Amino acid sequence: MPEAPTREAAGRLDADDPLAELRDRFVIGADPVAYLDGNSLGRPPRATIERLHEVLEGEWAGRLIQGWTDSWTELPTVVGDRLGATVLGSAAGQTVLADSTSVNLFKALHAAASLRPDRTELVIDDANFPTDRFLVEAVAAQRGLTVRWLTPEPVGGVTAETLATMVGGSTAAVVLCQVDYRSGALADLAGLTRLIHDSGALAVWDLCHSAGVVPIQLDADEVDFAVGCTYKYLNAGPGAPAFLYVASRHLPYVRQPIEGWFGAEDVFAMAKVYEPATGIRRMLSGTPNVLGLVAVDEGVRLIDEAGLERIRAKSVALTDLVTDLVDAWLSPHGAALASPRSAAVRGSHVTVRHPDARRITDRLIDDGVVPDFRNPDLIRLGLSPLTTSFVEAWDGLRALRGIIAP
Ligand SMILES: Cc1ncc(COP(=O)(O)O)c(C=O)c1O
Repeated sequence: MPEAPTREAAGRLDADDPLAELRDRFVIGADPVAYLDGNSLGRPPRATIERLHEVLEGEWAGRLIQGWTDSWTELPTVVGDRLGATVLGSAAGQTVLADSTSVNLFKALHAAASLRPDRTELVIDDANFPTDRFLVEAVAAQRGLTVRWLTPEPVGGVTAETLATMVGGSTAAVVLCQVDYRSGALADLAGLTRLIHDSGALAVWDLCHSAGVVPIQLDADEVDFAVGCTYKYLNAGPGAPAFLYVASRHLPYVRQPIEGWFGAEDVFAMAKVYEPATGIRRMLSGTPNVLGLVAVDEGVRLIDEAGLERIRAKSVALTDLVTDLVDAWLSPHGAALASPRSAAVRGSHVTVRHPDARRITDRLIDDGVVPDFRNPDLIRLGLSPLTTSFVEAWDGLRALRGIIAP
């Protein structure tokens, strides 16, 4: 049995952690003892709470409808540009914040398919997140396309070898997640995008589990479309608007299926006929969620301050610690690591497979440790570098050991 890192060793990692002081910028109480679900819903930054108060009192109460002309109308693109620069590796004018990841994916899929009008297939892996699979099927049905289902490796995810067998002259677009929501496998975004382009198809990436925790270079990697949520590692709160990136080379040609007034060239012209905005704003539909946008802005500020390279380094150290603890404490007792062993191909959560995962998750929550259960037998342990401490992760794993190997 490998030796488990001690709590003292975890404490030393915290003492040496250059991001440790940022933890105090979040509201973190004594309960739960360990929050290992920041990859589902991040913790609230203190600055966000203050900024929301300012917006409510100063802007909404103070300015009323004038808020729209002061600044609110531009927030989807202003915050989109900041997110693009800090998190997505994208130049200005290609990212908006609006709606949910699901709605943005729907728009991106229609836009991608209309850029490849002679092609008949959409490709997606059958282990993808439900909303992605459902929407690919829905858009395929609406446009008379066929869905080609790729079966990824259970832990390793989508590889170039498997994808190469699925894409070809009929492929319009391929939808992939950069980090697999179950295993945490980190896909080779650059390599797979090249492979997709080699067949003349377009790459649509879902970055929900990578935005804010894995360095991303959408422009350099020539991604076509990307979507993702902001309530996980970007800590923007429940229901905060999602992002949608469209590469500038496509923007003049894309149309999207929910052409509402906020996507029109002149929002307040009350025009008779819809004329799409020239830039990324054409991907918007209706009134922006101002409070959510402000929360995204604050989340992005914290990521900017921390720096994505340092965030990634801590994420790797946290997932290494948890992987070592799983090996030492849990694997000898009927649990199995269901995430890649190598940090180079792992995102920021570690997943444990156990036949009794549902009951174990419930007991853990009773013990003040919050992980995430994924049907049918997975316990997902999310490590959010800005807010998860090494000792917190260690304590969470010790509680898990207490249930699995009492
Ligand atoms: C990988 C992935 N894609 C899409 C979604 C759906 O996001 P939304 O609820 O914003 O539509 C989620 C939500 O957790 C997700 O994890």
